Amino acid sequence: MNDPFDFKPKPLQFTVIGNPIEHSLSPEIHQLFSQQSNIKLEYTKTLGESGGFNQAVQHFMASGGKGLNVTVPFKLEAYSLCDQSSERAHLAGAVNTLWFDKGEICGDVTDGIGLVRDIEGNHGVSIRGSRVLIIGAGGAVRGVLQAVLEACPQELRICNRTHGKALDLAELFASRGPVRAVEMKSLAGESFDIVINGTAASLGNTLPAMPADVFHGVNLVYDMMYAHQPTIFMKWALNQGAKKAVDGLGMLVEQAAVGFEIWHGVKVQTAPVIAALRQGV
Ligand code: ATR
Repeated sequence: MNDPFDFKPKPLQFTVIGNPIEHSLSPEIHQLFSQQSNIKLEYTKTLGESGGFNQAVQHFMASGGKGLNVTVPFKLEAYSLCDQSSERAHLAGAVNTLWFDKGEICGDVTDGIGLVRDIEGNHGVSIRGSRVLIIGAGGAVRGVLQAVLEACPQELRICNRTHGKALDLAELFASRGPVRAVEMKSLAGESFDIVINGTAASLGNTLPAMPADVFHGVNLVYDMMYAHQPTIFMKWALNQGAKKAVDGLGMLVEQAAVGFEIWHGVKVQTAPVIAALRQGV
């Protein structure tokens, strides 16, 4: 029975919504941030249903929830649900972080800053003045382009299996920096400092069909997906002469830290959280 004299405040409620959702590490990440900052919170996983996303968000808000993370496949739908969103969310056409303000739904996209902080802060590779290649032209890539361009690369090339999509993205971001689309087959003989894989290919344990000599001498190859083992893309790049290859676990933690700061106004340390996740928490 509930104790009528127990006035302990309920912890703040958060959730991550996606489909599938079982694999999500967001609850672990936010619990580790919570321990670090002494902010009491509950963070659950919500399996979103096709056609039921809007209702799930409204229900969470009505039941006193403070904020949500949004993952595949709902990031675009989440953007269209927002009453207010940041300029970077507008460019990305997607949000991964939602919160509520006086009954309004507010949204932001933190993936791009997460990627840049991981590359520069955790892996010590500067984007400024470098030649960067991004492979892929789906939602994941669109969500990070502005942040990468703000880090001032000398040039940013986008290549994608379906070239037309790379052309569209390059045009969309043309006013933001030196970005150009390039066909996969034209990459032979080109050299880059940083190569980022933003395709869904690693998920299916396949490789994008691109010339392997692109990896020769690359300082950092970054696969935006993460796994317990090095991804097929990381192994391939190292075999072809890349100096270093990393997965996207750091990006995941960094984007969560930006979200935590939006929700709680508190900065957290990411390095111990990345280390804990690498060890399986
Ligand atoms: P996400 O939100 O993960 O970006 P998406 O918008 O469906 O998902 O985009 C998937 C991206 O991975 C696309 O760039 C896709 O290439 P196409 O535009 O040609 O479809 C890319 N992709 C998926 N599987 C791939 C594969 N086996 N080889 C190369 N690119 C692949």
